[in-house]
Amino acid sequence: MQKIVIAIDGYSGCGKSTTARAVAGLLGYIYIDTGAMYRSVTLYFIDNHVSLTDPRAVSKALEQIDITFHYNATKKVNEVYLNGLNVEKEIRGMDVSQKVSDVSAIKEVRHALVAQQRKMGKSKGVVMDGRDIGTVVFPDADLKIFMTADLYVRAERRQKELLGKGQLVELEEVIENLRSRDEIDTSRKESPLKKAANAIEIDTTHITFEEQIELITNLATSKL
Ligand code: C5P
Repeated sequence: MQKIVIAIDGYSGCGKSTTARAVAGLLGYIYIDTGAMYRSVTLYFIDNHVSLTDPRAVSKALEQIDITFHYNATKKVNEVYLNGLNVEKEIRGMDVSQKVSDVSAIKEVRHALVAQQRKMGKSKGVVMDGRDIGTVVFPDADLKIFMTADLYVRAERRQKELLGKGQLVELEEVIENLRSRDEIDTSRKESPLKKAANAIEIDTTHITFEEQIELITNLATSKL
């Protein structure tokens, strides 16, 4: 059967990852969480005290970074590995969340990750979520979704998700983090977050994950 590329972009905390993962599972596609890639680079930069204002240090660090995804058969999810180590837990914490948008605004970082993402989606049959998938990584994607949701609702969902991972974070802190990431992501010079001209916008404020998944899966099926 013909396989397509599905690009899902949008603001932080709209439920892109959960939705994209489920849609990929239903279609038998590969799911690539590009946010996890930017988060892994950020973790490396924090651990190795890489100065974000030193382009040579950044380029040198990027050469030392190897990001891969491996399927966890027990959890039935793709997990991210940084230089051979599973960093799923470390990259989701607030320390990485607070720095990731500054790291993602660096040109060298974007060029390296976009090149890898294009390779990963080359053979199609992929659902990729992020901020620039429909605009920069795969401008010819067969289906482009742009997800939005009310900031407060997004923060509540993210807070619940963090709690599920054992992290108790005040709602105000989550709201501030989402607000600040949206601001940096939409205003940066290099591939800012914006809706691709031919993307379908889905506001997830008042719909459930199940409804989001059904909506996108139906849109995908109509393209096959
Ligand atoms: O998707 P997630 O919230 O995990 O992404 C974390 C951050 O990574 C975003 O706030 C953004 O700064 C960056 N990102 C990006 N481009 C992508 C995916 C994520 O700049 N394609």
